[in-house]
Amino acid sequence: MYKVKSEIYEETNYSTIKVDNGRVLSKFKFTYPPEVDAETTITLHNGINTDKDGDLVVKRKAHAKRSGVIQIEHSEATELRLVGLQVWRGALLLADYIFHKHEEFCNMSVLELGAGVGLTSIAAAIYSSNVVCTDVNVGGILDLIRANIKHNTELFKIPNSINVLEFDFLQPLQDYSGELLETIDNCDVVVAADVIYDDTLTDAFINVMDTLFERGNLIRKGKTIYIALEKRYVFTLAEMDTVAPMFEYFLRKSMHKSWKIEYIATDFPQYFEYERSRHLVMLKVTYNK
Ligand SMILES: C[S@@+](CC[C@H](N)C(=O)[O-])C[C@H]1O[C@@H](n2cnc3c(N)ncnc32)[C@H](O)[C@@H]1O
Repeated sequence: MYKVKSEIYEETNYSTIKVDNGRVLSKFKFTYPPEVDAETTITLHNGINTDKDGDLVVKRKAHAKRSGVIQIEHSEATELRLVGLQVWRGALLLADYIFHKHEEFCNMSVLELGAGVGLTSIAAAIYSSNVVCTDVNVGGILDLIRANIKHNTELFKIPNSINVLEFDFLQPLQDYSGELLETIDNCDVVVAADVIYDDTLTDAFINVMDTLFERGNLIRKGKTIYIALEKRYVFTLAEMDTVAPMFEYFLRKSMHKSWKIEYIATDFPQYFEYERSRHLVMLKVTYNK
């Protein structure tokens, strides 16, 4: 059977060890972002630091260098149907972005779609007290996410801050559970890493984005969707060029939507260890009234 393997395992040493069930356990090391953002700190002539509201800012130098580890159980290679059992580069880029913007994320309810083994949701729960981690339940993925949450609970802002729920993009809206609808309505920010790799799934993902925005509009609660992905290039004879067909398919299909799509430059600080490939893309999508 043809298997695919995420490139990241070859590039960085995650101190991976085998576990009994045929999977492996890897350590994803990170550094915490500095707690005080230098840009928002104003130094008065007497040397005292204040924030923009004039409140005293106490610098915690020791905290700036603090490091941690997210332990993730995952597969090392899988058939295409089970790619969610691996860790992909987009998950690490999104985790970096959440760390970079942790002051915003800490006040938000976060919904992750196509979460795979849960790394990005776990990173979000370090700052946010309300994270819902979802995926389609194939290959025991939801139980694997629950196990990974257990491996990392001591990192979280508050205990039990991640809820795990099934969300299958292919499911029709009328079949969504009450809990899923409530989650969709409550969330402020939606994150999804590397879920654009197949035309059918991309169409379904776009429908999900429509649903998120439509329900947000109904209850007047705007949503921001962050999408991270690694463009996968192929050379096509038809185009006589190198193209990233899935990403281009997504852009084509999104073109006429009432969405505002912004590219976020991927030069924000790196807190996790991986190769920040130049093929990584980060999009911020909001509803354009
Ligand atoms: C390439 S993996 C990315 C996983 C994870 N976000 C990461 O970046 O490591 C693609 C993800 O899309 C999920 N997926 C596939 N079909 C889906 C569906 N019908 N509904 C929701 N998610 C789906 C997979 O289970 C998997 O978690």
